Amino acid sequence: MPQKGIRAFLKHFFRNPLSTGAITPSSRTLGRKMGELIEPERVKIVAEFGPGTGAITPFILKRLKPDSRFFAVERNKEFYEIFRSKYKNLTIFHDSIEQLSPILKKLNIDKIETIVSSLPWASFSDQLQEHFLRLIHKILIPGGTFLTFAYIHGTILPSGRNLRSLLDKTFSSVEVSPIIWRNIPPAIIYKCKK
Ligand SMILES: C[S@@+](CC[C@H](N)C(=O)[O-])C[C@H]1O[C@@H](n2cnc3c(N)ncnc32)[C@H](O)[C@@H]1O
Repeated sequence: MPQKGIRAFLKHFFRNPLSTGAITPSSRTLGRKMGELIEPERVKIVAEFGPGTGAITPFILKRLKPDSRFFAVERNKEFYEIFRSKYKNLTIFHDSIEQLSPILKKLNIDKIETIVSSLPWASFSDQLQEHFLRLIHKILIPGGTFLTFAYIHGTILPSGRNLRSLLDKTFSSVEVSPIIWRNIPPAIIYKCKK
């Protein structure tokens, strides 16, 4: 199955690099670090945005409790299908996070405690970054956590700098992890608190 995930990533990266955002799924090291940043007292409702083929998902699942609720939203049809065949018992929507309001209505969920995102921020326009961050901020509980990563080479580009400044403006605190070298490409994680 990992081979299938890697093949799907390569195919979609070469067809549409901007919407895929990565040439290969995240490493286990990046997944583990993302999972470790999930606070155990904020796992009643956890969402994953842009799970791709589910490279980070097992590290999120490890942090959940028996009464936690989890759902994911993935826009790419093939990644969504691979995810569904891997994680038969998990809830995933084949949609864009732009459709969050109807998705939350369907699930009868008002607010989320923790959001783990792999959305390809560097591919988004400044306006789309702002729009998505507003959406995310709105659906988090006060004190809720938003985790997202950025590839280090992207952080010096205008889109990466714009993301950092929007995170600082939107959230009450933003912590940056050390560089995770064991990932292609190396990445940092932003841990943001509402
Ligand atoms: C960089 S990949 C990360 C995939 C996976 N989480 C990983 O770490 O290997 C970004 C993912 O975000 C998805 N994506 C991009 N825009 C999206 C959107 N608006 N709503 C939901 N998913 C989106 C892409 O299809 C892709 O699967």
